[in-house]
Amino acid sequence: MFLRTSSASISRAALRRYPFQAARASFATTRTLRSADDSPLNEKNLKGTGPQPAYAPVGVNAALQAAPATPAKPTLFSHEFSLADRVALVSGANRGLGLEMAMALAEAGARAVYCVDLPKEPSEEWKKVKEYLGRMEGLAGEGRLEYVSADVRDQELMWKIGENIGHTEGRMDVCIAAAGVLKTHTSCLEYPARQFQSVMDINVNGVLFTAQAAGRQMDRFGNGGSIILIASMSGSITNKDHAWVSYNTSKSAVLQMARSMACELGPKRIRVNTLSPGHIYTNMTAAYLDTQPHLLEKWANLNPMGRIGRPDELRGVVTWLASDASSFCTGSDVLVSGGHHAW
Ligand SMILES: NC(=O)c1ccc[n+]([C@@H]2O[C@H](COP(=O)([O-])OP(=O)(O)OC[C@H]3O[C@@H](n4cnc5c(N)ncnc54)[C@H](O)[C@@H]3O)[C@@H](O)[C@H]2O)c1
Repeated sequence: MFLRTSSASISRAALRRYPFQAARASFATTRTLRSADDSPLNEKNLKGTGPQPAYAPVGVNAALQAAPATPAKPTLFSHEFSLADRVALVSGANRGLGLEMAMALAEAGARAVYCVDLPKEPSEEWKKVKEYLGRMEGLAGEGRLEYVSADVRDQELMWKIGENIGHTEGRMDVCIAAAGVLKTHTSCLEYPARQFQSVMDINVNGVLFTAQAAGRQMDRFGNGGSIILIASMSGSITNKDHAWVSYNTSKSAVLQMARSMACELGPKRIRVNTLSPGHIYTNMTAAYLDTQPHLLEKWANLNPMGRIGRPDELRGVVTWLASDASSFCTGSDVLVSGGHHAW
């Protein structure tokens, strides 16, 4: 079949025999298009992929550029997924998903992870994790957890905490805004203004203030960074039979907050994404599951995997989002829900 790409060259016969191809060709210029098989990559367009990381080349390029018989070393976990020497701020990290994520960052090599939460003193759980990381093989005394007591609703205080971390560590690379609350069922037609506001104050304003606290330091040091806002599948679906209008609304706001921030901060190489878990067993969900035993089976059956999730099942995705392994990912929502959305 011949179809040249000049609109002038489309014959009536071709139009009759190959109407779709001919219509497509009529949009092309007179320049001849090449097939992908005949299109080697060139230096000029490669520059459009941005600056290479200090440890480049990796992957196929590393293989292609390696001199014969030189050692071939894997880089995926030692470089792309590594958080070596990075500094992080995680809110809501005294327990639950925040603590699990803080530990994952430390295990991936982060030099220090600052855990912000309400209690004046950290929980026994948090202290145990800190102690365990302190003697973890391969971390060589790094992977420090630091506890900071603060309320994420206090913007001034959150910014100050960010500044202090910046002064102490000389950098800021990762932020996870995990502090959040879920209230008991309340009818949407009766929802009291003060209660609605209190959820927004923590789940929306507090998330913004946490992202600001870290983002301002990322901007200050100019190394870029990764901000991960913990939303929820409840930001894009409604949990069946649950009267959670304030929670669901707050999580939708977080999804849009991340997209907006991603667009503003992209030029500064600060990436902003949301992580949206499905049902995970933590204190937050235990408040429902432990008092209403029928809910476990009900929630489990709402996804094709037939079970609810564990906090440790977010370790991989959060490390991916925090590290260079996700360097082209921003303004995205990553759903980890056992397929809840697939039905
Ligand atoms: N567990 C789930 O199934 C699930 C699913 C989707 C999203 N999430 C989200 O994940 C995040 C963590 O939830 P979790 O399940 O670990 O709950 P959790 O209740 O175990 O942990 C929440 C933490 O946030 C802290 N916090 C609350 N208000 C705060 C404030 N004003 N300032 C500072 N810290 C504050 C709490 O003290 C607590 O340590 C929340 O944003 C939640 O909405 C949880």
